[in-house]
Amino acid sequence: MKTKLLTTSEKDIALAGEIIKKGGLVAFPTETVYGLGANALNSEAVKSIYAAKGRPSDNPLIVHIAEKEDIIPLVKEVTPEAQALIDEFFPAPLTVILKKSDLIPDTTSGGLDTVAVRMPENETARRIIKASGVPVAAPSANTSGLPSPTKAKHVIDDMNGKIDAIVDGGDCKFGVESTVITLATDIPTILRPGAVTKEMLEAVIGEVEISPAVLEGMSEDETAASPGMKYKHYSPKAKVIIVNADKARFEEFVNSRKNAFALCFDGDDIKIPHLTFGSEGDDLSQARELFDRLRQLDEMGAEKVYARIPSRSGVGMAVYNRLIRAAAFNIIDLKKPYTIGLTGQTGAGKGYICEYLKEKGFKIIDADYHSRRLTKRNSPVFPILQAEFGKDVVVDGVLNRKLLAKRAFASRERTDRLNEIMHPAIKKLCRDEAKGLCVLDAPQLLEAEMQNECYKIVSVTAPESVRLKRIKERDNITDIEAKERIMAQHGEEYYLSQSDYTVINDGRADVKAQFDRILEEIL
Ligand code: TXA
Ligand code: MG
Repeated sequence: MKTKLLTTSEKDIALAGEIIKKGGLVAFPTETVYGLGANALNSEAVKSIYAAKGRPSDNPLIVHIAEKEDIIPLVKEVTPEAQALIDEFFPAPLTVILKKSDLIPDTTSGGLDTVAVRMPENETARRIIKASGVPVAAPSANTSGLPSPTKAKHVIDDMNGKIDAIVDGGDCKFGVESTVITLATDIPTILRPGAVTKEMLEAVIGEVEISPAVLEGMSEDETAASPGMKYKHYSPKAKVIIVNADKARFEEFVNSRKNAFALCFDGDDIKIPHLTFGSEGDDLSQARELFDRLRQLDEMGAEKVYARIPSRSGVGMAVYNRLIRAAAFNIIDLKKPYTIGLTGQTGAGKGYICEYLKEKGFKIIDADYHSRRLTKRNSPVFPILQAEFGKDVVVDGVLNRKLLAKRAFASRERTDRLNEIMHPAIKKLCRDEAKGLCVLDAPQLLEAEMQNECYKIVSVTAPESVRLKRIKERDNITDIEAKERIMAQHGEEYYLSQSDYTVINDGRADVKAQFDRILEEIL
């Protein structure tokens, strides 16, 4: 089919309206994103929207109207809350969901008993709806799964040859799709955040909830309040990874990546190929530019893109919601002090792995080293140890290790007390040293509850016979002593069940290759 390119002239608007009225498809600008419009009351026309987009048919469409009162025939009842939102906001980047009337075909509502209605603020959009004389079903005018179109060019890229006409009305003012709120539940709930924020809605109708799927995504078996939320969305071909970091940490991280692109804010100092999407403190600029930049990254051939995390307040919530879907929920959290927490039983071979990670540019923070520092002459923990285990455990500023061990390991309770004194002090020394990409090498990482400070936990394991041999050679101890040490530790299951990844270091398996795979996945 030949797609007509139309302008916003009287004549072209009249033609666009005519095409829609007759059952055809017209893409047109709105203040949010470009929409792909068809007569919402005509099942056949609506079916052709799903076909042109490649959209699953259980994902309902928003019905667009030109005047506030046009909502009345489409719904069972305009509830008082709906009326309040209409009075306050319409026309606006806001969609309200209510129980549908019999006028709305199942194809439009995706088989649901509700309908989503919106009166766009954009003049051109309203002129076209008016000219058509019917309510207009219009999803975003992109191929399903790709970023929504915010410029006529994007629509042409996706829809040329598949629809009757495209009206070029310039760039979209907001750049992210409308806020979708359902009023068909007990408490009004935001199903998709947009430029009309939770705060703005609450100022008019009181308590508003945010659907958990907005920020966290959903598992395969959950039923979606809004079917659109279960599909992968807004994704460029490139793999996008969000980096939770402030400006300085983001720059440092991204600038040391190879074969990657960055999606950053204006003013970030980035040395690898990159694009910006607005500025850090300006959520409206981020919303306006995000989808266009995701499309451009594909044109630039990006395969891996590290994106700076937007704030989640105000319209930032909408930006974050779109970006996290584009990233398929991949986030690297560098706000935690340690990128990798490395733990495992004695003799499992953590040392070898630390050497390798050092070669890869990680800073290694050695918890054992700090633990030993705390037992050196005049350590600040000595007075506390004396109060707990007796004055004589320290004499002339020197720790009597044997005596302390005897008293501390006398019972489980006493051992716990020792840990309660030592762990916080070790943690602080480690944290003071943490900077950049670093690995926390800590045999007692789990016992000291440092999980939350590590972005990912990797545990290293090896068969008992291998560990036994290693510690006997390393520490020059007898078989019995080595066995006792191993017995005093947790079993393998303890580590495996609390780690994100496990590396087997039995001296044969290719440990470096195992770690490369982990790094590839998490960075
Ligand atoms: O800004 C916008 O809303 C744009 C412009 C063109 O108006 N339109 C748009 O439509 O974004 P679309 O189809 O791409 O997204 C509509 C979203 C989908 O996630 C859909 O699942 C949800 O709204 N939705 C529609 N009707 C619904 C209903 N009855 N119940 C729950 N969710 C619904
Ligand atoms: Mg869409």
